[in-house]
Amino acid sequence: MKIAPSILSADFAALGDAIARVEAGGADQIHVDVMDGHFVPNLTLGPPVIESIRKRTRLPLDIHLMIEEPERYIDTYVRAGADLVTVHVEACRHVQRALSQIREAGAKPGLALNPATPPSVTEYVLDDLDLVLVMSVNPGFGGQAFIPTTYAKVRHLRGLVGQRPIDLSIDGGVGPANAGALAKAGADVLVAGTAIFGAADPSQAVRKLRDASEVLK
Ligand code: DX5
Ligand code: ZN
Repeated sequence: MKIAPSILSADFAALGDAIARVEAGGADQIHVDVMDGHFVPNLTLGPPVIESIRKRTRLPLDIHLMIEEPERYIDTYVRAGADLVTVHVEACRHVQRALSQIREAGAKPGLALNPATPPSVTEYVLDDLDLVLVMSVNPGFGGQAFIPTTYAKVRHLRGLVGQRPIDLSIDGGVGPANAGALAKAGADVLVAGTAIFGAADPSQAVRKLRDASEVLK
């Protein structure tokens, strides 16, 4: 199981320190939530902050774009240091074009699905994808409750993906309490903000989440 701490719940005035802590705990990638105040009712950060983060870690940067018309900014985010760029299927008019654009810019393409979006939207773009981000909350804020229909969606996606090298990543309300069941349903990556940065020791929280994901296996 890969663990992707979401820095949304970290102290934005001490991001370097937050990243060093989760890196020490064995995090696999750093999840960065970009919000535009239109696609979601919240605003976070953009390319200059990602450039600064890039200089602080060797871990892959997993950039989750919760923005309208993400096609306009893909190249900018890849230049800023993104390894993975995930766009929302609900925010793109030409999804396949956006995914190809990410690949051409030199990053791995990801597609995010809101809780009400069916898994079948991925069916004809599976060969254009390296990651599917299954939202287990409605995007916009950290600290929300996990939506249980996610389990069925993950199982459905696992079947669709087959043997393709695509990571199924789960984002929202993920913690030690549901990590085992998510692993069993077929998750490859767990994104967690509050469960990691809300803990007294974020390094230990990364290990705890990974251990919890291995319990039911
Ligand atoms: C929500 C973001 C998540 C968020 C998860 O819109 O995409 O990445 O940080 O936070 P928690 O783990 O607190 O639900
Ligand atoms: Zn996210």
